[in-house]
Amino acid sequence: MERTIVIFSNPKHLSAITCCLRAHVVYDFEKIFAAAMKAGQATLTNGGTTALRASLHCLGIGAGDEVITTPHTFVATINVITNAHALPVFVDIDPDTGCIDADLIEDAITENTRAILPVHLAGFPVDIEKIMTVARKHNIPVVEDACQSVFAEVNGKKVGTFGATGCISFQEWKSLVAGEGGAILCSDKDLMRRCKAFINNGRDPLGQKSGYPYPGSNHRMTEFQAAVLTQQYRRFLTQAAIRRENGAYLETELTKIPGLSPRKRYTPDTRFTYVRFELDYDRKCFDNVDAATFAKALRAEGIPLSGGPRRYSGGCHKEGMLEEHLNSRGFQKVFSKARLADYRASLKLPVMDNLTANNRQMLHADSKIPFLGTRKEMDQIITAFKKVAANTQKLAKA
Ligand SMILES: Cc1ncc(COP(=O)(O)O)c(C=O)c1O
Repeated sequence: MERTIVIFSNPKHLSAITCCLRAHVVYDFEKIFAAAMKAGQATLTNGGTTALRASLHCLGIGAGDEVITTPHTFVATINVITNAHALPVFVDIDPDTGCIDADLIEDAITENTRAILPVHLAGFPVDIEKIMTVARKHNIPVVEDACQSVFAEVNGKKVGTFGATGCISFQEWKSLVAGEGGAILCSDKDLMRRCKAFINNGRDPLGQKSGYPYPGSNHRMTEFQAAVLTQQYRRFLTQAAIRRENGAYLETELTKIPGLSPRKRYTPDTRFTYVRFELDYDRKCFDNVDAATFAKALRAEGIPLSGGPRRYSGGCHKEGMLEEHLNSRGFQKVFSKARLADYRASLKLPVMDNLTANNRQMLHADSKIPFLGTRKEMDQIITAFKKVAANTQKLAKA
């Protein structure tokens, strides 16, 4: 391959060329992604965390504010709230899904509530339509953490496009991956202008204001990441369709076995993406064999499932970082002692706190590889399930 090396004596020229290069792949994929998501605009970032951070910042959320959210999530959801010196107000979860219980949100709203931050976990949408109804009633913006759920849908609309902003992650565990990376989705042009500025050290993306007119930092996606993402997206479109078809087939067939039930849908027209494959497991139907033992027997048959309680069973409200924040100089300056005492007392969430203790168990698998197989391979998985289910008496005695 022929290569050309250009030497620049004037650093301004080099910088101009670098800017042009940046404009190309990142901006092209932003357009492709916004169109695919049917979102007004998309802005690529260097991660889902920074997409969330930019959203909160550009909605004006900061010191002294409260953001209503879920304890049952990856800690990044909460870090962006506490790092803004705002309080994450945890609402208990729906035991059927592990998602925030939308019916409890209204009671948690106070005069300090500035946003609602629900999480669509692992390709399974939260009750977003109910959340939007409450949010509109109280005129509170919703920032959707759709980091784990790109392409999941409710009533034909992609999650991440319901709220003021939606945030996506392209980190490697997800289904559309670029190693690291993220995106903000938003249809409000002014808010998006601020978000684009925020991730680019405050430059005006429209070029109408000179200098650094907006607050910001550097959370840009690189051209290299965007190039990887653009290629990965092509594979993703094929893989997402296979995963959805296989996931739905397995869900239908496996839940014919008494004791296995599918993940609850809040709206009949809900499209899961099966980033993880999850089934509720009722041990009473399996000679009281727990989900971990059932899953171990499945693994012996070559099916890579795990069993046990839900994924984030400890809950973010119990993480050590929270107490560190509450004790920090910043929090102590912003919140009164009485407010922090009330807050600590509120960190008791009956459903969440009993998640490990109660007997609701699940079978689950990261579905990136096993569930991209053929129909014949899916049938082999079903046969293995039936075999294990028919032999739980033996497992109970072992
Ligand atoms: C629910 C949730 N929110 C936010 C993030 C943060 O995304 P990233 O790792 O791309 O910063 C993740 C990543 O795992 C996540 O699972």
